[in-house]
Amino acid sequence: MKRALLVLTAVLLSVGVAYAAEDVRNTKHNLSSTGSLSPYLTTTTDEVCVFCHTPHFASIAEAPLWNRTEPTGPYNMYSSATIDMTIAGSPQGVSLACLSCHDGTVAFDSLVNEPGSGLDTIGTWSWNNNGNIMTSSTSPSAMIGTDLTNDHPISITYDTTKDPQFRAPVNNRIAVNGTNVTLPLYGSNKDQVECGSCHNPHEKDVATFLRVANTGSQLCLACHIK
Ligand code: HEC
Ligand code: HEC
Ligand code: HEC
Ligand code: HEC
Repeated sequence: MKRALLVLTAVLLSVGVAYAAEDVRNTKHNLSSTGSLSPYLTTTTDEVCVFCHTPHFASIAEAPLWNRTEPTGPYNMYSSATIDMTIAGSPQGVSLACLSCHDGTVAFDSLVNEPGSGLDTIGTWSWNNNGNIMTSSTSPSAMIGTDLTNDHPISITYDTTKDPQFRAPVNNRIAVNGTNVTLPLYGSNKDQVECGSCHNPHEKDVATFLRVANTGSQLCLACHIK
């Protein structure tokens, strides 16, 4: 019995490896007083989710129960002579959610609903310079900015009829060959590539929050036939 249990546990664990290991508390996305960035942030709250989600009064256009002020850009979108698919005029949905920190224009504490009672404003919740740290902190490359012309296209409609050098999605997701990971597409038709197609903001184990390690470029090759 014990042995069977051990075998079962081993099987479950081995199956589990390729799935996302979500534990946002142990990532750079823990902006609370318990996070690794606390020396820069000097926040007094130990709530982790609150920097991105709220149970009430959320703005839901960007991501589920989203708690952040929407960034307004304006953005320069990716363009090139060889691009075949349609790219939106500005970032959509989950990409806007990421950009609400990563374009460097919205302060980390610019929340819809702050911790504590009611729709509080800053209150006793203090912040270094009340600003964002993207320009000055441990990894300046985390600052994507509003010029997205030098970033992989986002808010682009994944359409294999426009370019046959792409793998077809199944149920609006793209399988990463040889793993059990699938990459989601977004938008009302669930057909757009966004930041979240490649990244999972809660991922603990894969570096740079990728949905799957880019070993042998398997992430890129999930979509591109190259
Ligand atoms: C740094 C920002 C950030 C933090 C912190 C964060 N999330 Fe998220 N979360 C997101 C984004 C962005 C999405 C949308 C992702 C998508 O649609 O692929 C999301 C999606 C979700 C979802 C719905 C989709 C899913 O993956 O199941 C749940 C549930 C969720 N988060 C719960 C939490 C909880 C609970 C915490 C705190 C323990 C937390 N999140 C902390 C950014 C964050
Ligand atoms: C609440 C603000 C916030 C939101 C929202 C947010 N991030 Fe971050 N992100 C950060 C901070 C802070 C860091 C760490 C920056 C540093 O180390 O200087 C970071 C780091 C990263 C890194 C680099 C990780 C590393 O190991 O170097 C990636 C990749 C990343 N974020 C992707 C995303 C994506 C994709 C989304 C949306 C799904 C997102 N982030 C949403 C605040 C945020
Ligand atoms: C097509 C896949 C893909 C999309 C879409 C994507 N990223 Fe990334 N991103 C990656 C990969 C792969 C890396 C790791 C690059 C490396 O190791 O240098 C990365 C790295 C990063 C980093 C760390 C800095 C760096 O370059 O190493 C940040 C921050 C980041 N992404 C944020 C975003 C945000 C915000 C969006 C949406 C605006 C986004 N990403 C969209 C694939 C993607
Ligand atoms: C979720 C699917 C997806 C993933 C994963 C992905 N891409 Fe893409 N990529 C696209 C789409 C869609 C386009 C737009 C293609 C078009 O319109 O012709 C694109 C465009 C590009 C372009 C620009 C093509 C041009 O004509 O301007 C390059 C280069 C590229 N991707 C490289 C990469 C690399 C490198 C990776 C891995 C780090 C990657 N992609 C991961 C979907 C993806």
